[in-house]
Amino acid sequence: MMMEIKGEAGTTINYTSLKLRPVDWSGSCLAMESTLHQISPYIGKIKSTFAEKLITTYTKPRDTILDPFAGSGTVALESLIAGRQVIANDINPYAITLIKAKMFPPNSLEEAIKSAKDYISLSKKQRGEIDFEEVPDWIKKFYHQDTLKEINSLSQLLRENNEDFLMACLLGILHHQRPGFLSYPASHLVPYLRTKKYPPEEYPEMYSYRDVEPRLLKKIQRVYRRIPIFDGSLNRICFQKDAEKLVLPENSIDAIISSPPYMNALDYARDNRLRLWFLGEKDYEKYDTKSPRNIEDFKILMKNVMKNLYPALKINSYCVFVLGDVNKSKKSINTALAVIEIANSMGSFDCEEFIRDEVPTFRRARKEGACTKNEWIIVLRKVG
Ligand SMILES: C[S@@+](CC[C@H](N)C(=O)[O-])C[C@H]1O[C@@H](n2cnc3c(N)ncnc32)[C@H](O)[C@@H]1O
Repeated sequence: MMMEIKGEAGTTINYTSLKLRPVDWSGSCLAMESTLHQISPYIGKIKSTFAEKLITTYTKPRDTILDPFAGSGTVALESLIAGRQVIANDINPYAITLIKAKMFPPNSLEEAIKSAKDYISLSKKQRGEIDFEEVPDWIKKFYHQDTLKEINSLSQLLRENNEDFLMACLLGILHHQRPGFLSYPASHLVPYLRTKKYPPEEYPEMYSYRDVEPRLLKKIQRVYRRIPIFDGSLNRICFQKDAEKLVLPENSIDAIISSPPYMNALDYARDNRLRLWFLGEKDYEKYDTKSPRNIEDFKILMKNVMKNLYPALKINSYCVFVLGDVNKSKKSINTALAVIEIANSMGSFDCEEFIRDEVPTFRRARKEGACTKNEWIIVLRKVG
């Protein structure tokens, strides 16, 4: 199939589909993917089956894959499962916790459970020493006071000991309306209370104390239901940097596979504000200011990232970006075309694939107007 699309500055791009077919990753993958992917939710997460397809199509075993906007680490985990080495970067500390949890899980379920029990018993001893007065009111609204004290003291201990896997499990049960979660009735992806739908007078059990230990242990068991075994000799590196400042050694990367933040379609820090607070981040807003807010900022970010990473990418290697249309003031802006124009202006990439994948309604986050309806996959090859 071939068709032509007009770019912003009048550029004509041939739209072909040679190696990738959206049908290969259509449908839900929740029942087949590694349950490590489901450790804790993340907005804008890509499908694991889609990441796997990109990885196996554009890289070989033991290649090094870089994801400069790694989010919850979907590409990172699928790279390891496929026997590739991985470098993952993100600016958001919640993303970093999830990436490290997925890259370095405990060796066995037994080890994870034992470690969780040890930290819980230590946190029970230390609970009295934690200054509860410092917890802001907006956090207190989500929890029974005794539950909050337990989460607060356990999260502090896990943070101090860099226990990313256990921390990610705890963050994964922080808010929801189901009994296995710790908050008063609330949404799961982003933190909103559902007190109108579940008034305390009618549902008193949803507002009672929730014991952290049994819920955390069950969460760990769920995560270990389908846990992958990685080749221990694969390199796994994680950075927490602004991607614009990420510079890597020359010729060290075999492929870049990433889904960059496209304009203000999603607020990665704001939507994770409750989780970030328990990670010790009191000022979550500063992280969203690094995400581009308009097409000009987006172009600057992508130009800098592509220029800085260009020397690190080996000749003939691929740079695969997953991007979305953004709707603003009744206009749809195609961020993928902007990236192709940057690549064309650099004069050193061939665009090998440019594919549209419709985002099903159930996967769209809130933000009606700005919400992404189409995803685009661009495959660029470094030609010299
Ligand atoms: C579309 S999400 C990536 C989702 C990821 N592929 C996944 O499956 O979870 C984009 C990510 O870019 C990160 N980000 C935004 N601006 C950034 C910057 N300047 N430097 C590094 N990361 C940034 C956000 O925190 C977010 O996690």
